[in-house]
Amino acid sequence: MARDILVFYGSYRRDRQGIELARWIVEALQARGDEAELIDAKVVDLPMLDRRFSDYAAGEAPPAMTELAERIAAADGFVFVTGEYNGGLQPGLKNLVDHFLAQYYWRPAAIASYSAGPFAGIRSATAWRTTLGAMGMVVTSTPLSLARIGGAFDADGRPAGEDGGRLEKAFPRFADDLCWWIDAARKQREEQAPPF
Ligand SMILES: Cc1cc2nc3c(=O)[nH]c(=O)nc-3n(C[C@H](O)[C@H](O)[C@H](O)COP(=O)(O)O)c2cc1C
Repeated sequence: MARDILVFYGSYRRDRQGIELARWIVEALQARGDEAELIDAKVVDLPMLDRRFSDYAAGEAPPAMTELAERIAAADGFVFVTGEYNGGLQPGLKNLVDHFLAQYYWRPAAIASYSAGPFAGIRSATAWRTTLGAMGMVVTSTPLSLARIGGAFDADGRPAGEDGGRLEKAFPRFADDLCWWIDAARKQREEQAPPF
C-alpha cells in the first residue's frame, strides 16, 4: 500500500531556492511508488499565529486551516525541508507548523536541510529535530543535506553538479529510513490505539 507523505516547505522569499529541493523530494518519493504532496507554507499562507487549530471550536477554524489539519492527521509521515536563516529556523515554516499539534502525533518525520553555503543548513536541521520531537513526531536519523543549493539543480529542476549528485546518492537511504518507520508506526497503530 502506497504511503501518504507530506513534504513541508516554508520560505516566503520571492527568490526562494529551497522550492526546487522540496519539489524534487516530492517527485523522488512518488517515483518510489508512494504518494507525496508538497505543503508549501507560502501557498497555504496562514496568518501569523493567533489561534492554533485546537483553539477554535469545532467547525469554526478558517477553511484553509481545517483542510490542512485534516490532511496532516490523515498522512502516514512527513518530510520537513528546512533552510537556514541566521543559524536557525525559517519563520514561514515554523509559523505554519505551530498552528497544529495533535495532528502530527505518532508519525515519523524526516528532515532535509539545505543552504547557500557549504554547511547545508545543518544548524537548522538540528533546531527542527528538537521542535519536531517536541510535537509528537519520531524524527528519523538519516540526514539529507544539500550544500550550495544555488548550483545544485539544472533549469529543469534536476539535480546537477557535485552537490546535486550527492543529493541523488543520499536520497534512497533517507527515504528507506522514513518509509521503514512509517510502516512500523502504521502497523502499531493498527494493532494498538495510541495511548493519548
Ligand atoms: C535572512 C537570511 C539568513 C540566512 N542565514 C543563513 C545561515 O545562517 N546559514 C546559511 O548557510 N545560509 C544562510 N542564508 C542563505 C540561505 O541558505 C539561502 O538564501 C537559501 O537559499 C535560503 O532558502 P530559500 O531560498 O528557500 O529562502 C540566509 C539567507 C537569508 C535570506
